[in-house]
Amino acid sequence: MTKLQDPFGRPIEYLRLSVIDRCNGRCLYCHSGQNEPLLRRDWLDFDALERVVGLFARRGIRRVRLTGGEPLLRKGLAELAARIHALPGIEELALSTNAALLAPQAEALYCAGIRRLNISLDSLQPDTFTRVSGLKLDAVLDGLNAAKAVGFSPIKINMVVMQAINAEEIEAMVAFCQAQGFTLRLIETMPIGTAGQHITHAHYLSLHDLEQRLQHRFGLEPVSLQGGGPARYLRQRGSDFYLGFITPLSRHFCATCNRLRLTADGRLFPCLAQDKAVALGPLLRGGYSDAHIETAIAHALAHKSIPPPLSVNTPNMLKRDMNLTGG
Ligand code: 5AD
Ligand code: SF4
Repeated sequence: MTKLQDPFGRPIEYLRLSVIDRCNGRCLYCHSGQNEPLLRRDWLDFDALERVVGLFARRGIRRVRLTGGEPLLRKGLAELAARIHALPGIEELALSTNAALLAPQAEALYCAGIRRLNISLDSLQPDTFTRVSGLKLDAVLDGLNAAKAVGFSPIKINMVVMQAINAEEIEAMVAFCQAQGFTLRLIETMPIGTAGQHITHAHYLSLHDLEQRLQHRFGLEPVSLQGGGPARYLRQRGSDFYLGFITPLSRHFCATCNRLRLTADGRLFPCLAQDKAVALGPLLRGGYSDAHIETAIAHALAHKSIPPPLSVNTPNMLKRDMNLTGG
């Protein structure tokens, strides 16, 4: 069975699986409220999800991340996670969540085989946090505590840095993550979807300039071991605290992208910043053979290309908000 490769010969080993497009949050950079939600009857059911991930695994996908919307809103998520984790070839199962609903589910998700967690946390100030995300800070902190107690590792905090909103809080966030044993990743706003466009025009801050200052301030040094994704990591001398930078605008990384994204209704997007997709949903529902579906996957991959570099002034290419394809 040939392994998946994009047209540039890059191996594709990573699948991001959006299990639901809905979210209990309303993050300023993600949710414009203008996108029509998917119809529930179009969601892939667990059998279809297990089957399609199994096909991907046969072709070399080793790592799967469950995303949303907010994946914890999908009923039975732990059962789905266990089924995916049991598939031959799947070595790593991760979850991206806003953690507001995590506390009661943390143990079941860990038992299902999820180990790696990415959690959005843009502010430690209750008012700012709610203004940015529409969620309650206390619920998220409860979720984080539960995740830590259960033993998830690593736990990575994603902070989207916004000028005049939370940029002044970076140092407080570093201190918090250091104390808790979390990795912190600072993320530049991306002009993707209507919400992403708005926030980038009004609040973009280049992390490139900030990096040197933080490097000095916290005694950070570059590490050779990188996570295989777009983040570049620095490590604090004499500690195991890592600070990551995700800089889609000030330092482009599309050339090394190794991921595919599947939406909750089974559309396979080779790239977050492009509209091209192949609809696997009708094939999965329509009784098509594995070979047929694999041909459709190969077709989507043939269109994985490097998009024009994103910038603050990138025109609105996409109406699709991030909550559909997963952050
Ligand atoms: N810009 C940057 N990051 C975004 N995310 C979602 N929308 C955007 C955007 N417009 C990321 C955030 C969040 C994750 C789910 O997706 O990091 O934590
Ligand atoms: Fe929901 Fe995550 Fe988007 Fe925030 S970033 S609105 S938590 S999907």
